[in-house]
Amino acid sequence: MSVTHFHTADRSAAAFLPAKITQQTLQDKKAQGQPIAALTAYDYATARLVDEAGIDLILVGDSLAMVVLGYESTLPVTVDEMLHHTRATRRAVKRAMLVADMPFGSYHASVQEGVANATRFVKEAGAEAVKIEGGANRIELVEALANAEIPVMAHLGLTPQSVHRMGGYKVQGKTMAAFHRLMKDALALEAAGAFSLVLEGVPREVAQRITAALKIPVIGIGAGPDCDGQILVFHDLLNLTFSTPAKFVRRFADAAALITGAVHEYRKDVEQRQFPSEEESYHLPKDTLAALEFEESRPSRKAW
Ligand code: KIV
Repeated sequence: MSVTHFHTADRSAAAFLPAKITQQTLQDKKAQGQPIAALTAYDYATARLVDEAGIDLILVGDSLAMVVLGYESTLPVTVDEMLHHTRATRRAVKRAMLVADMPFGSYHASVQEGVANATRFVKEAGAEAVKIEGGANRIELVEALANAEIPVMAHLGLTPQSVHRMGGYKVQGKTMAAFHRLMKDALALEAAGAFSLVLEGVPREVAQRITAALKIPVIGIGAGPDCDGQILVFHDLLNLTFSTPAKFVRRFADAAALITGAVHEYRKDVEQRQFPSEEESYHLPKDTLAALEFEESRPSRKAW
């Protein structure tokens, strides 16, 4: 089949499928002033729910190191672990644009290694783009990825992979010098070919100016409401992090309370023999049961 073959058989069904989100969709949303809704997801079940709820962009973030794998920071997660979660997410996501986070150490040593690892995310896990953290020091890599046909989402401001250099998770861009550096980096990343920018943990006034200066969509997290879109960590949104949320996090639901309540109910019902019920049990066919009961009624029945 040609790669340019268009499916025409089921036009009526296709008409009801929401349009696939692409780089161009995000660009159009920016141009039209329509906010972009992005969220992280890391597995099949949650990614399906996120995709079917109409989220535009799903990021398999390296935040999974902390919220899924229980590490203290994002630094330990490996390329193979990120690939594993990206594949699971890929199997669920039909509409949203799927972006994979490149983990710490997978693009820091050389441009060649960065391109090779990014290629794995596209080729082996079905990512449509990769995200990398950093500014001026990543320009060569962004150019190389764009040349390799791999769309890049850049990430500036509070970049968790730089936690040791930053001396903790601190709001960035608070001085004139820091603002100028961020603006310069953002413009350079755009010129190098990044298709969008995540701006994390910066003052609203800084994010507003960078968003206005860039042609590509700027997705904020802890960067105020003036960005072209917002992203949150799925587990933050649902109170599944076991920690005090950052100032910018809004808990849209309490999944921890929901899950804890359900598990307590399950345990109680098992302990009180309330689960499973008669209706939740399988039964022998009538004639087999009759034969079994007849056999059991005979004095010469088999002793098991
Ligand atoms: O890893 C992640 O989840 C992220 C988002 C917070 C942008 O980088």
